[in-house]
Amino acid sequence: MPDNRIIYEGIIERYRKFLPVSEKTPIITLYEGNTPLLRAKNLESVVGGNINLYLKFEGANPTGSFKDRGMTMAISKAVEEKSRAVICASTGNTAASAAAYSAKAGLKCAVIIPDGSIALGKLSQAMMHGAKVIALKGNFDDALRIVLEITEKYPITLVNSLNPYRIEGQKTAAFEIIDFLGRVPDYHFIPVGNAGNITAYWKGYKEYCGFSNANCEFKNPKSEIRNPKLPKMMGFQAAGAAPIVKGKPIKNPKTIATAIKIGNPASWKKAEEARDESGGIISTVTDTEILKAYKLLASLEGIFVEPASAASVAGLIKYSSKVHKFSGSEVIVCTLTGHGLKDPDRAIKSAVKPKIIKQDMKKILKEIGL
Ligand code: F0G
Repeated sequence: MPDNRIIYEGIIERYRKFLPVSEKTPIITLYEGNTPLLRAKNLESVVGGNINLYLKFEGANPTGSFKDRGMTMAISKAVEEKSRAVICASTGNTAASAAAYSAKAGLKCAVIIPDGSIALGKLSQAMMHGAKVIALKGNFDDALRIVLEITEKYPITLVNSLNPYRIEGQKTAAFEIIDFLGRVPDYHFIPVGNAGNITAYWKGYKEYCGFSNANCEFKNPKSEIRNPKLPKMMGFQAAGAAPIVKGKPIKNPKTIATAIKIGNPASWKKAEEARDESGGIISTVTDTEILKAYKLLASLEGIFVEPASAASVAGLIKYSSKVHKFSGSEVIVCTLTGHGLKDPDRAIKSAVKPKIIKQDMKKILKEIGL
């Protein structure tokens, strides 16, 4: 009899030896990670050249975004360190993830969100998981500043990506890409908001390929890797919320991609390091370019993402049409950070509304075009 038992494991079990956990760490997991890396043949023809394009669909995580990779680590360590409560500032996804993992761990969770600037799906998640949700009169940067002040003075654990365990968990997405492809990609396109994720991927690529700093005891763990050259990290901010590109904080960031509506990213310096060490870029995409990529992903590839997530693909389309013609058979990965159901309002605004028709088969068939 074949052994058909399904084995579930989260990123901590799977990549334990690369993570700061021990036997004593209680693992709080919702079986995050192991997300699809999809070949995107239809989009390849839009981008042009002879590229091999893959999409890392992080919307397939348990709460619908990449944040779960970091949150399983942050919450597990918070429990190990006997913390009773956690807090974060969030444009929505961190809040949803923190709320869910805290519920599982039995921790008190508070989330501070910018009033009126977070998508409905995310808000409903944080509320349903029982977090204390505080809508701040201000933007994400104001919320983060206040949360940092609180965590300095009170015994409550910060679970924003300034918490180093978050970055540790999130780096596992790069591990999965290498495990799946059997090599590192040539380019990695990624949306940039608070800049934790680009930091995490770059750390992940370096560590998994044995290029890490002297503290890393895992030298060349994957000897079968055919191309140990590291990918160029290609980060994209929304044009109205692009402090790294502009070289100064943005007081009133503006974009329809609310997840990355951030004017003063916490991991600013680390994102610049990732860009410079990898020979990549951090650039901008307009809301129009983001929405175009958002629709293309849904209509050509069957993948529904939230607008911020489409910034990576928008960036690739812009880069390949305006800056660099891909000519060889480059392997390119775009991270799609969150699920489209997070922001149903934007989807409904972006698509054709359903037509209301009486119970008349002829009219229905006519409408379908049969
Ligand atoms: N895409 C989505 C869907 C996000 O939710 C975020 C960040 C990003 C991209 C950018 O990632 O901040 O690591 O550069 N969301 C945070 C939040 C800020 O509060 O949920 P980053």
